Amino acid sequence: MGFDITSIRNDFPNLQQTVHGEPLVYLDNAATTFKPQSVIDAITNHYSHETSNVHRGVHHLSEVATAAYEGAREKVRAFLNANSTKEIILTSGTTDSINLMAQSYGRALLDEGDEILITEMEHHSNIVPWQMLCQEKGCVLKVVPMNDDGELIIEEFHKLLNAKTKLVSVVYISNSLGTINPIKDIIKAAHAQGTSVIVDGAQAVSHTEIDVQDLDCDFFAFSAHKLYGPTGVGVLYGKEALLDTMAPYRGGGDMIASVTFEKTTYNVLPYKFEAGTPNVAGVIGLGAAIDYLNTLDFTDILQYKQKLLAYGTDQLSSIKDLRLIGTAKQKTSILSFVHPLIHAHDMGTLVDEQGIAIRTGHHCTQPVMKHFGVPATSRASLAMYNTTEEIDALVKAILHAVEVFQ
Ligand code: ALA
Repeated sequence: MGFDITSIRNDFPNLQQTVHGEPLVYLDNAATTFKPQSVIDAITNHYSHETSNVHRGVHHLSEVATAAYEGAREKVRAFLNANSTKEIILTSGTTDSINLMAQSYGRALLDEGDEILITEMEHHSNIVPWQMLCQEKGCVLKVVPMNDDGELIIEEFHKLLNAKTKLVSVVYISNSLGTINPIKDIIKAAHAQGTSVIVDGAQAVSHTEIDVQDLDCDFFAFSAHKLYGPTGVGVLYGKEALLDTMAPYRGGGDMIASVTFEKTTYNVLPYKFEAGTPNVAGVIGLGAAIDYLNTLDFTDILQYKQKLLAYGTDQLSSIKDLRLIGTAKQKTSILSFVHPLIHAHDMGTLVDEQGIAIRTGHHCTQPVMKHFGVPATSRASLAMYNTTEEIDALVKAILHAVEVFQ
């Protein structure tokens, strides 16, 4: 236990490289995090020694792969502090999890005129699936606005929440602003109104400790690849009683109990939502990512990232004319910014020349860009393996970009 930045950095092979002749500074962790060697090894081991389908064979390898796959589900359960592995649906990512919610839960729940409440800072993946459903069912999407610091206006949330609100779907931590939303208060208020809450936890899983029972959320979605795990794997947590009422989202193998041409009956939870051969290696990789995180002290990680955030905020604020987008009091280590002389894409290209990876664009949150009156931002998103020296390198590269454009 304890927080040793050198040792942590040594665990991530991607960090040990140069880009354009400079040591790589990877500040695009909100898009995807690097994977520790142990995650890469777990995936390689599956493909090298344990390749087999799961739940389908009595032969040795199938049993080994099934045990590893179901073992990973148990690791996810423990990570989220869910009650049971029946509540852990393995998906292909947060987007897939939210689409499952819209098409299974939402479609059955919502009637014409019903309302779904989201917020102005949602990722497109928590907007578009609901818009598609509204179009189909004639329901209405309502949006909680935010202020110019990128904080939800909670009084507006309370005003918008009403008897017609059948569903609240809200991001815990904004990917483009870093804002940490008061999720427990939101869940409590929604429940008082008899409304279920879906939490988009894509960024939250690596930036805060998650306890779904303590949060009392009804559903919680996240992706493995933002948690030091592989791409193509995600999770939908749901309370068992609610998942039980939901119809399957996709039909196919593994999600059935019996099939005849006249009638199909469905498998039990969680399998009824997992049609087809799953991403076995990816799920095992997610389990390895959780194992890796369990070797570290999460409180130390959070404190370290808050220090990086404070340092980064100070340093970026000291650059003349640079404007930080997202200045919430409760925020995590995501630093979005614009500079009047330089379009975000030019900024991204120029800092890349110095070996620094940031993301530029609308970050799949066009309504956030609209709120702040900008087409795009540059975003440095910091993970536990980043350092203050890397922030210094970013600042130097930005100052160089400014010089080029002056
Ligand atoms: N949603 C991811 C991001 O914020 C891709 O970059």
